[in-house]
Amino acid sequence: MNILQHLEERATKTICTALGVEEAYGDVRPATDERFGDYQINGILSLAKQLRQNPRDMAQQVAKALELGDMCEPPEVAGPGFINLRLRTEWLEQYLGQVAADTRAGIDPPEAVERIVVDYSSPNVAKTMHVGHLRSTIIGNALCRILRFLGHHVIGDNHLGDWGTQFGLLILGFRRFADPSALAQRPMEELERIYQQAVTLADKDEAVAEEARGELFKLQSGDGENRALWEKFVRITLEENDKIYQRLGVHFDEVLGESFYNDLLPGVVDRLLKSGIARESQGAICVFFEDDPELADNPYIVQKSDGAFMYSTTDIATIQYRHEHFRPHRILYVVDSRQALHFRQLFSVARKMGYCMRLEHIGFGTILGPDGRPIRTREGKAVYLENLLDEADRRAAEIIRNREDKLGGETQRVARAVGIGAVIYADLSQNRLSDYRFDWDKMLSFDGNTGPYLQYALVRTRSLFRKLGDESWQPTGNPLRLEHASENTLARELARFPEAFHRAAQTSFPHLICDSLYRVARRFSLFWRDCPVLTAEGPLRESRLSLCRLTGNILQTGLQSLGIDTLERM
Ligand code: ARG
Repeated sequence: MNILQHLEERATKTICTALGVEEAYGDVRPATDERFGDYQINGILSLAKQLRQNPRDMAQQVAKALELGDMCEPPEVAGPGFINLRLRTEWLEQYLGQVAADTRAGIDPPEAVERIVVDYSSPNVAKTMHVGHLRSTIIGNALCRILRFLGHHVIGDNHLGDWGTQFGLLILGFRRFADPSALAQRPMEELERIYQQAVTLADKDEAVAEEARGELFKLQSGDGENRALWEKFVRITLEENDKIYQRLGVHFDEVLGESFYNDLLPGVVDRLLKSGIARESQGAICVFFEDDPELADNPYIVQKSDGAFMYSTTDIATIQYRHEHFRPHRILYVVDSRQALHFRQLFSVARKMGYCMRLEHIGFGTILGPDGRPIRTREGKAVYLENLLDEADRRAAEIIRNREDKLGGETQRVARAVGIGAVIYADLSQNRLSDYRFDWDKMLSFDGNTGPYLQYALVRTRSLFRKLGDESWQPTGNPLRLEHASENTLARELARFPEAFHRAAQTSFPHLICDSLYRVARRFSLFWRDCPVLTAEGPLRESRLSLCRLTGNILQTGLQSLGIDTLERM
């Protein structure tokens, strides 16, 4: 249990006993202003309102009854009825001394280990991955790592868009206009070009459109040649995407695309009809949500009147399959917020079907260009992920060029870690629900809330132990000595990292980890400025070394959980 959880539990219990109420919520939060303490109990205000009593009096009673042992200074009632809590330095010295000797940076495993499917990345076959898929890939990867670090059983699944009507056109286009040399050199772009050309032609010429439908029908009924072409498209896409995944350090446990569920679709529609969840309407099969005012006007089509199945049908089949094969407690769908309606409907259908795992849409906003509109190339085209990562490499290489003599053969690797790390961090450090502006200079800066700044803070701790001549030096668990104000404030921040980590996992908001890491790194730089380490003596020296080790350990744990490479030197 982390400090905040512990305090909240104590606060909740004490409110109940001291005020004689059955139910309460301590609502403990980190203090907004460190001058008033480290945490504050907020829960009395709402209770006072409910009971129509004086919150300050109630807070006084609770503060008097609070038993926090030697953990906190005597609690202080403040404002209209908050209680401020300040950790006692002696307690912190003990606690962090132990945490410093622990490789998990103070992060306890969860009370119950869960099986969690994370559905992420999920690009479409024969379409180049563009920046829209960047966010799903980066956020999904971070969530997998965070949950795994805690000890949950995580199944990362790339739900590839590898089935659908576009394949009729693609097959037709491929037969007519494929250019073998372009296909060898830039396969994805060529597939996209072929597809576009087929679309244009079919728009003008109904006979072509009819022919494409015929190709699709042949593919769906198992025709060998069309099947082979489709497999080729899938293979090319997977190979090309893999290059990007490798650069981002992303691995999937499963790559079960939409096609994988194809045979289940008729059964799904049958089941929905038989159980009365879906019914026919104007030739199509739909689910209506009369009982839900928010969805009442949005029926969910699971089979069109021409017999075709939908994105929705596949997603229902996927839940059925995941339930049977993974028995998950939770499924997280890391998908653009614009698909919110689809997921609301899907989750509602799943509940009607009796599935009770937690289904969560982890939505995210759009990446904007310098003009504040969705990001585009200068020519107004979609920005390809590959080009973007190339540019990250190039820019980072330029920035660290002047360190070549220090880094030697490592220069290229460092440039890559810094460039890609900067892109990943820029994405994750924002609240995922908001749009954000893509700004190369800002994200690559060594100053501010950026990937390079944190990587560099970690490198400082590493270089200290190199200077010490003992790179694997480990704290023994002795209490720390927090003498200087700068080491005291650093310590308080380090103690809060586990809270941030747990909260990020519970809410699927990785930026909470970024915020915490950034605060740690900033305080670490003040500590670095104010507190000599190697020239200190005795227990103070050991304590400062421990603080450096713990800071490094937290930065390392945090960055790796976000999917960002860490470095020994830069
Ligand atoms: N392929 C879809 C797209 O690019 C995303 C799929 C998300 N996952 C899901 N289970 N629906 O929009």
